[in-house]
Amino acid sequence: MNNKIFNAIIVDENHDGTFSQKIKEKKINELPDGDLLVKVEYSSLNYKDALSFSGNKGVTKHYPHTPGIDAVGVIEESTSSDFIIGEKVIVTGYDMGMNTAGGFGEYIRVPKKWASSLPKTLDALDSMIIGTAGLTAGLCIQSLEIKNGILGKKAVVTGSSGGVGCMAVKLLSKLGADVTAITGKKEEIEFLKSIGAKEIIYRDDFLNSVRKPMSKGQWDIAVDVAGGDILSGLIASMNYGGTITCCGLVASQNFDTTVFPFILRGNSLIGIDSGETPIKEKTNIWEKFASDWQIDDLDRLHKTVDMHGLMDEIKKILKGNQVGRIVLKH
Ligand SMILES: NC(=O)c1ccc[n+]([C@@H]2O[C@H](COP(=O)([O-])OP(=O)(O)OC[C@H]3O[C@@H](n4cnc5c(N)ncnc54)[C@H](OP(=O)(O)O)[C@@H]3O)[C@@H](O)[C@H]2O)c1
Repeated sequence: MNNKIFNAIIVDENHDGTFSQKIKEKKINELPDGDLLVKVEYSSLNYKDALSFSGNKGVTKHYPHTPGIDAVGVIEESTSSDFIIGEKVIVTGYDMGMNTAGGFGEYIRVPKKWASSLPKTLDALDSMIIGTAGLTAGLCIQSLEIKNGILGKKAVVTGSSGGVGCMAVKLLSKLGADVTAITGKKEEIEFLKSIGAKEIIYRDDFLNSVRKPMSKGQWDIAVDVAGGDILSGLIASMNYGGTITCCGLVASQNFDTTVFPFILRGNSLIGIDSGETPIKEKTNIWEKFASDWQIDDLDRLHKTVDMHGLMDEIKKILKGNQVGRIVLKH
């Protein structure tokens, strides 16, 4: 039995229904069963982590719990012939960080089917700058590439200064799209330009300019993290044959539309879920980030924090004030 002690952020449910969060010691043998024991080097902060951290039962049913849907680290124990001790793996999504202890602890134990080998040309830190946010942006862009192509296309990204948004702006511009960034943060124009946005539209200006159910067509491809009125506005604003990938709900889970953009402009709306994407597809996206999609200046997209620093960043993400990606270094 492995009695080794490690540190983890632990969220507890109090008797009065409130939640408290502390950095505490935990034993390896308190981790769930699994094929791989991984010493986590880095994790990252995603919107879902902030929900789990604050006691959202739609994400995490049972507390005490350690959030963290992303992790990269070194295998210390393996019961699988597919992975050897000392190998580095990336684990994102599935149940990790939801109801299985996640990457906000220094160790995780997970099934082998949740793990991808860290590609040789991808640095461990870079993999967590990308994290679930980048994986999701990658899955959106892969779908758009298949349906419409990227090079020379007019693209739009919502929530563009946030995690998924900034990764989408960066990757779309690298692949040759002409990117418009929709943002609520007037102070982030320079950041958005530096990651490749050609045009920046303030969220309220966009909302005020749209005529529904159909406005002037402006874009061929879109990545939407917002839902709500923003998504309704995008659906009204796509060019003929345009495609929107829908992956988030920071504005609202509901949206209004009509059939007109779909039957008169042949528009498409594609749903993206990175969490349950089969591991082969996730591994394929990681390989792309290590080759054709390699981003040289990933560094400027992130800030690295320790467990104490992460707690402050969680407050920001819950208020929609996140800029770029936050990486947790253990
Ligand atoms: N489907 C999937 O597999 C998947 C995976 C990862 C994340 N997600 C979802 O994607 C969304 C974004 O996640 P994230 O990790 O990128 O979060 P994030 O880092 O907090 O970014 C969200 C961004 O959305 C914008 N925003 C905030 N409030 C808004 C509002 N009321 N209306 C419109 N835009 C608003 C802000 O950017 P600006 O100020 O620049 O507008 C904010 O920075 C979340 O809903 C998350 O659950 C889904």
